[in-house]
Amino acid sequence: MPIQHPSFGALPEDRIIIFDTTLRDGEQSPGFSMNLQEKLRMAEALAELGVDVIEAGFPIASPGDFESVRLIAENIRGPVIAGLARAARADILRAAEAVAPAERRRIHTFISTSALHMKHKLRMEPDEVLAAVTDSVSLARQHTDDVEWSAEDGSRTDRDFLCRCVEAAIKAGATTINIPDTVGYAVPADMHAIFAMLRERVPGADGVIFSTHNHNDLGLAVANTLAAVAAGVRQIECTINGIGERAGNASLEEVVMAIRTRHDAIGCTTGVVTPNILKTSKLLAAITGFDVQPNKAIVGRNAFAHESGIHQDGVLKNAATYEIMTPESVGWSRSSLVMGKHSGRAAFRDKLRALGYGEVGDNQLNDAFRRFKDLADRKKVVYDEDIAALVDDEVLRGHNRIRFVALDVHAGSRGPARAELELEIDGTAKQASATGDGPVDATFNALRKIFPHEAVLRLFSVGAVTEGTDAQARVTVRLEEDGKMVDGQGADTDTIVASARAYVHALNKLLVKRARTAPEDIATAMRA
Ligand code: KIV
Ligand code: ZN
Repeated sequence: MPIQHPSFGALPEDRIIIFDTTLRDGEQSPGFSMNLQEKLRMAEALAELGVDVIEAGFPIASPGDFESVRLIAENIRGPVIAGLARAARADILRAAEAVAPAERRRIHTFISTSALHMKHKLRMEPDEVLAAVTDSVSLARQHTDDVEWSAEDGSRTDRDFLCRCVEAAIKAGATTINIPDTVGYAVPADMHAIFAMLRERVPGADGVIFSTHNHNDLGLAVANTLAAVAAGVRQIECTINGIGERAGNASLEEVVMAIRTRHDAIGCTTGVVTPNILKTSKLLAAITGFDVQPNKAIVGRNAFAHESGIHQDGVLKNAATYEIMTPESVGWSRSSLVMGKHSGRAAFRDKLRALGYGEVGDNQLNDAFRRFKDLADRKKVVYDEDIAALVDDEVLRGHNRIRFVALDVHAGSRGPARAELELEIDGTAKQASATGDGPVDATFNALRKIFPHEAVLRLFSVGAVTEGTDAQARVTVRLEEDGKMVDGQGADTDTIVASARAYVHALNKLLVKRARTAPEDIATAMRA
């Protein structure tokens, strides 16, 4: 008998709910923080990807977290919007307020249930935890019908106690029961056994959706997730590119494609629009500055590249010889040579639509088109990846107060490098020149002259968007100020220009962070 879920109604028994926590578990890991616009952009992409639930953040964690969950709840239609809350009144009320504007909303409340966590972290007795489960779920139910309860460190929890907690959560009104492998310790047989036991022993288990949330400390997150599905779990918690605490979470693209490709073995389906997977993965990489490794399943640059002659020969004769799914099914295009310098604005707009950027605003389109023309003049071949890098660059910079305008650099083996830089700050053009130990140093010194600040450069990394000496460079710059860390990205065929763009991007993010904690400081910084 299908379960009647408050948000999804009667789902077919083989339908898996995809709960994406890129913006919560993923975003809270070091180096992956995103600003408000970036989170909204990511949430739009997740909605287009067809995920069922977006966990948009942890509203009590900071005013910025609250604001982003609220903004996503106001703007994103389609997926259920969830906010995380500990088993505490203030947390639950804050989460309820943040998700209130959503079309369909969920409060996700959790408490640790393992002996280790209860004793050393919570300093609570098991009976107190049990009472907190009932109280937190009951309070959450006063604000929405869709309540998820999680047993933090569930996989290391005494099984009898876990059954009592799950029973209490169901009685109090939870509609989804999530058992996380919080520390990535479980093996697939553990996850299978836990869910089989809960479904068999807990009264009311047949009226709720069971969910699994696996961390990847032993590289088993996807395997544990699929073992849970085999035991009847119908909600999977996962993230794009597998980002998340420590070694990350189960990767969305891997679990979804395993379910699709091995339907014969798993027997389930999802609502994910799989051709949108790659662009969502790339958007996340562009926002956070962390590319996936080349051999990453599904979205890595080598995932569909056949190097050996024997494999290439086989694929040319029949792709199925070495490909278990088509590259197109996850968004890779076989012919990536696309546009040249004679292509017009209409062709460019068509291309953007084909790449899934149909919603780019006119100003961003004009800026991206200007940069495309400039790129096509300098680069022999413009690939889809080049265009995506340009557009992501423009979209991410849409609301920024500092804008890159121009850069001239003199560098080489004779004498110090010199940079002349022009920026626009709140619409006013400002120039400076500076010398430095190499062209990047000179450029960053000029930037500091135009916009003095105390932030320290913590990371500078350069990668190539495509291959060849005329490839665009993608640069990541990490800045730290008062313990706050931000990453900025820039792309250009000129590595120094990409570096300047990345620095400007990071600085803009820093201003947003500063403004959240000390609104008066931003005015002083902007007057500088
Ligand atoms: O890993 C974990 O236990 C979590 C919970 C808050 C669901 O992220
Ligand atoms: Zn987690």
